[in-house]
This record gives sequence, structure tokens and C-alpha cells, in this order.
Amino acid sequence: MGQLVVVSNRVAIPEKIAKVRPGGLEVAIKAALKDKTGIWFGWSGKIAARAKIATRKIVHDKITYITLDLSKEDHHEYYNGFTNRVLWPILHYRVDLAEFSRRDLSGYLRVNDHFARELHEVLRPDDFIWVHDYHLMPLAKALRERGHKNRIGFFLHVPCPPPEILTALPHHERLIPSLCEYDLVGFQTGDDAFNFSRYLTRECGLHSRDFNFVVSERMIRIDVFPVGIETATFAYLAQRSVHLPFVKRVIGSLVGRALIIGVDRLDYSKGIAHRLSAFELFLRAQSDWRGKVTYLQIATRSRTEIPEYADMEKEIGSAAGRINGAYGEADWTPIRYINRPYSHATLAGLYRAARVGLVTPLRDGMNLVAKEYVASQNADDPGVLILSRFAGAAHEFKAALLVNPYDPDSVAGAIGRALSMPLAERRERQSALFQVLSRNDIQHWADRFLTALEQEPKPLSQLEKMSSMG
Ligand code: ADP
Ligand code: F6P
Repeated sequence: MGQLVVVSNRVAIPEKIAKVRPGGLEVAIKAALKDKTGIWFGWSGKIAARAKIATRKIVHDKITYITLDLSKEDHHEYYNGFTNRVLWPILHYRVDLAEFSRRDLSGYLRVNDHFARELHEVLRPDDFIWVHDYHLMPLAKALRERGHKNRIGFFLHVPCPPPEILTALPHHERLIPSLCEYDLVGFQTGDDAFNFSRYLTRECGLHSRDFNFVVSERMIRIDVFPVGIETATFAYLAQRSVHLPFVKRVIGSLVGRALIIGVDRLDYSKGIAHRLSAFELFLRAQSDWRGKVTYLQIATRSRTEIPEYADMEKEIGSAAGRINGAYGEADWTPIRYINRPYSHATLAGLYRAARVGLVTPLRDGMNLVAKEYVASQNADDPGVLILSRFAGAAHEFKAALLVNPYDPDSVAGAIGRALSMPLAERRERQSALFQVLSRNDIQHWADRFLTALEQEPKPLSQLEKMSSMG
């Protein structure tokens, strides 16, 4: 049987001093590959002069890491340009923020082609290829053009908006249908899968039966695979981490105040500015809580060369300062706003110490932070998760306090409710949430996807019959 070849933009290269780099995709794949054998292929994270672009290979445990550098131009056009200034905003329903240029699109296609060229050197005919995320949508097409008939799967970690939004993507007709070159296309939620299926029907005239589409003599299958976390490991880490000297110091510094925690990459999709406004409203409307609560917002810088990110950072920094100025006292700072990343061990301890987990993205594929917060709680005295209904996690986490992040009253109200929630209700909600996490941890996610990818497709004749009926 062939080997597993995972392809993603980011790769968690084993390094002596592992850097903490927030990002769901890397965290998820790293955990999913534990105890598996195969190749992890992608960008080295390095930008090199054209003449010095290198491909490196490292073998660690049972994984061979193969990474490529990007040229300055590729990085600018592919990563900072088309991927994160066009695809990212549109996939997160922010058409207003998309900045399209033909040059960036060419860079995106060029890097995908570069990946395909390098992969071509290592692929064997029976390998299973699992491609991740919006950076690499046209990769299967580039591989098929080189003659690869392997089973290739694609998983989209971010949301898939409805066709009414997807069609705002310039040249969508060239890019989105190229996903049909995969054998299996996985999404985080049923809504995402349904949106993609509607796109295929509306824009490509394709019909499906049970999410199976026939496309030029081939069949593609769409399915839902909500990504999980290392539930047991996180729970274990959290139990131990409350004893870490740093976590103990943080707890001590609260002097008995209730802790609310937010942990995010600094990204406009995370709704941090809206969250701060909601917290301000909470302090204004529920003044009894002033001086009794501390909101710790850890927001690590991300994609800093992109202007929309720099603007957002300024906005959030000044909002936090303004709220602290308006409501703080000489002995109380309502918001602790921190840009540094922390290790998962430290985060687990901080999550466990927090009475409230505030996770209010405006739109998110899944949001692993919500899952990590739940995994870290003490079942006997758990905190409460406040979760945006627009996070993929809300599809599984019905027992969280679900809020509309665009409605500050809804979030402020939930903060008050979470802080005063009786123990019995907190326990009940935590137990329901933890059950979801235990059923679908990261291993389960990876195994389900790979089993589906390895499955023989239904015979074409049967599907053609189904499609013509569909
Ligand atoms: P995204 O994929 O958009 O970054 P997720 O919430 O799905 O969002 O995943 C983020 C991952 O990065 C989580 O594993 C989280 O613990 C980690 N992370 C986020 N912010 C930080 C931070 N400030 N320090 C360390 N890790 C972080
Ligand atoms: O999970 C969504 C995602 O875009 C991943 O693909 C990515 O690794 C992560 O967020 C962080 O973004 P970046 O790799 O651009 O730092």
C-alpha cells in the first residue's frame, strides 16, 4: 500500500527549539500525524533569493518532512497577496476587504505549480495525497496535468461561503471548479459542504446524490469532517499546568478576581474589536462586576505585512487602552492585552484558571481555541464557554453559551450570565461539551478522512444514473 503524503502551506518542521506559532492547521496536522508514517510537504517558512531557493528533507520519527523556500516575489504574491488578501477575506465572508490583482493570482498559480513540480519527484503511483487549505486549491489540477492518478483528498480548514459570495472572487470559475480534480473534498461543517455543493450545481451545472458528483468520467465526493484537538493530552496538560510557576503567578496576580480569557491570532475574522466593545458594554451595564473581573486577551501578531492586519492591530490596541483608561482603577486593570504567544502547556493552565472562555469570531472554520478551552476545564468546577454562533465549533458545541458577535448586548449579557452561572449548570454544560470532544478528537478526524479517501469510489455507471435522477 502507498504512503500518506500530506501537503500544506505551513509545516511543523521538527526543530531543536520549537517556535510557538499560532495557527489551527499546523496544530491539527501535527497532532493528526502522531504515530503515522508518511511525508509532510510544504513551505519551509523561509524566504530566499531566487538563486538560493532550496528543497530540504528531514526525517524525524516516522515522518519525512520535505520543505521548499519561497522567493520574495512568491511570498508577496502568493502568501501576502492572493492567499491572504483575496481568498482569506472572501472565504470569511469579507468581500469588502478583498484586494485582487492579476499579478497575485499568477503568483498563487505559480507557487501551486512549483509545489506540484517538486511533489512529482517524490510521488509514487499508489500514494494517498492529503492537501490542506485554501493556499493549495489548484494543486490537484497541477498534479493531474503531470499525469498523477493518485487518490487525492482536500480539506478546507476555513469556511466555505455560499455561491452568492464565492462568485465575488475574481476568476472563481477558474479556481473553485479545480477542486473537482480531488477525489474527496472535506469541510468543517454541513453548511460549508452544502455551500460548495450549491456552487457546483449553480455555476458548473453539476448535480449530486448524497454529495457524490460525477465530473468528466470521474467522481468526487464531498463530506463533513469537523476537526478536533488532542483532547486527552490537553486535559492532562491543563491538570498539570495550573502548577507551572508562571500560571501560578498569573493566578496570584488576579487577587481573587474572576478571569475571562480570549486567545487568538490577531486576525479580523476573530472579532476581537467587537469583543472589546461587548466587554466595555458589560462593564457599563453590569457595574457591580467592576473591579471583580479581569479580561486577559492574548492576541499574537499574524500576517503583519498585510495592511488590513496592521490597521486592525492599531484599532484593537487603542480600544483596549481606551477601555482601561475609562474603567480602570489604580489597583485594577480591566483588560490585560498581550501580543506574545504562549506554549500550549501555559495556555492550558490559563484556560483552566479562567471562569469564562470568550471565543467570538465573526466567522471561523472551526476555532480550536474553543475546543482547547473545554478540554482544559476541571470537571468539578468548570468555566463557561461563550461561543460565536459563526464559529464552526458552534455546530458541535450546542451546550456552550452561543452568541451573535455582532450584537454587543448578546455578548455582554452572556458574560454576566457565565460569571454568575450556578455550579450545577456549569457542570452539565461542561459534561455535554467534553463528550463531543472525546467522541471526535484529532485522531478520529484524521482516521475518518483517510478512511474515506482510501475507500473505492462507487462505480461510475451507478453514479451517472443517480446524477441524471438528481
Ligand atoms: P486559526 O487556525 O485561525 O489560527 P484556531 O483557533 O483554529 O485559529 O487555531 C489556533 C491555534 O493556535 C490553537 O491551537 C491555539 O492554541 C493556537 N494559538 C492561538 N493564539 C495563540 C497564542 N496567542 N499563543 C499560542 N498559541 C496560540
Ligand atoms: O486555520 C486557518 C489558517 O489559515 C491555516 O491555514 C493557517 O496555518 C493558520 O490559519 C494561520 O495562518 P498563517 O499560516 O497565515 O499564519
